Amino acid sequence: MKEMIPIKFGVCGVGRIGAQHCRHFVSEGNDYAYELVALCDADPERLQDMAEKFGGKPCADFGEFLADPQMEVVIIATRSLDHAVNAEQALAAGKIVLLEKPIGVTAADYQLLQRLDRDYPGKLFFMHNLRFQPAFMNLQEILASGVLGDLRVAKLCKHHDFMRRNDWQMRLDCGGGQLSVWGPHLIDQGLQLLGAPVREVWSDLQSILTPGDADDQVKMILSGTNGRVIELEISNSVALPGPSYTIHGDRGSLTCDQDQKTFHLKYLDPTFRWPEARADAGSPVSKGYLGADPELPWIEETRKVTPETSPWDQVEIEIATHLYNSLRNAVPFPIKNADALEVVRITEVVKKQNLKFQWIG
Ligand SMILES: NC(=O)c1ccc[n+]([C@@H]2O[C@H](COP(=O)([O-])OP(=O)(O)OC[C@H]3O[C@@H](n4cnc5c(N)ncnc54)[C@H](O)[C@@H]3O)[C@@H](O)[C@H]2O)c1
Repeated sequence: MKEMIPIKFGVCGVGRIGAQHCRHFVSEGNDYAYELVALCDADPERLQDMAEKFGGKPCADFGEFLADPQMEVVIIATRSLDHAVNAEQALAAGKIVLLEKPIGVTAADYQLLQRLDRDYPGKLFFMHNLRFQPAFMNLQEILASGVLGDLRVAKLCKHHDFMRRNDWQMRLDCGGGQLSVWGPHLIDQGLQLLGAPVREVWSDLQSILTPGDADDQVKMILSGTNGRVIELEISNSVALPGPSYTIHGDRGSLTCDQDQKTFHLKYLDPTFRWPEARADAGSPVSKGYLGADPELPWIEETRKVTPETSPWDQVEIEIATHLYNSLRNAVPFPIKNADALEVVRITEVVKKQNLKFQWIG
């Protein structure tokens, strides 16, 4: 077996998600090797706790953290508004950057990220990790198998628990709002399903339950130049959650439960071919059924999402593997920077369509 040369890395922002990166990137038994060498956080107590738990040198100062000569990669998992600027600082210090989503929150961030992408080729990677959710990967395999035919319409939904979310992620002055929190995940997945340049974006954002001033309900529709239509919905105010994915192709449909454990499919027998038919200008010959084909050979089934591991653990492992392969084995990173930047562009369009919110920047 080929020897794996460890990537020495540091994490800036060791909060909820930063701690997961510390844990998963150094976990053993995977096709990658990382060594955590430094941690940075503005909260001294948390910094100390995390350094004791995961190892690595604790640094309260970002400049001192970046000056660590052995650190090759920096994962930036600070608050959203700091992401683009922190990425710029880390790149200027000669580091490779893996940047958390939302990679940018403001129009200035968008411009900065475009410049960084140009100025630091091969150094800037974007953490659109839910591209690797098992259910989303399974979904793409099912679509590629052709059983649903040509994808025409899809709905991607994140229905959070019904709650008055009240942390910094629900304040616009902190870069919060579901457009920033879950928007990047669903827009990224939506663009993958669209499979063509975006022709039009329609959106409506609302603040329904949160005591913050940010959006806790997002509805968007993306249409592609190929005629596909993808609806996206993120909500903290749905008491009866709907499916996570609803897909309609021209040979069948699929739903995936909100817990992303099970798919339900109904599709035409793959051997079935439509007989010739034409629409008649006259009145229907009989009452009731109005179609050309009274009997259709449907197949209905449920399928388990695989692997049956925690999707959150799985996406960490996938990102760590892809980054490792990109840096050590010259395998292209599957999240193209242009795709991630397109997510930010669309976010900017949505903000302009929803000026009742006091967007910053
Ligand atoms: N990709 C994903 O699936 C995913 C999941 C959760 C969160 N996130 C993103 O990660 C970011 C962090 O989210 P979180 O839930 O971990 O938040 P959090 O508040 O739990 O963690 C943020 C951490 O950054 C630290 N921090 C803040 N400013 C800092 C600074 N200037 N320098 C150093 N440290 C600083 C805080 O003390 C805190 O420990 C957010 O942008 C969020 O959108 C991504």
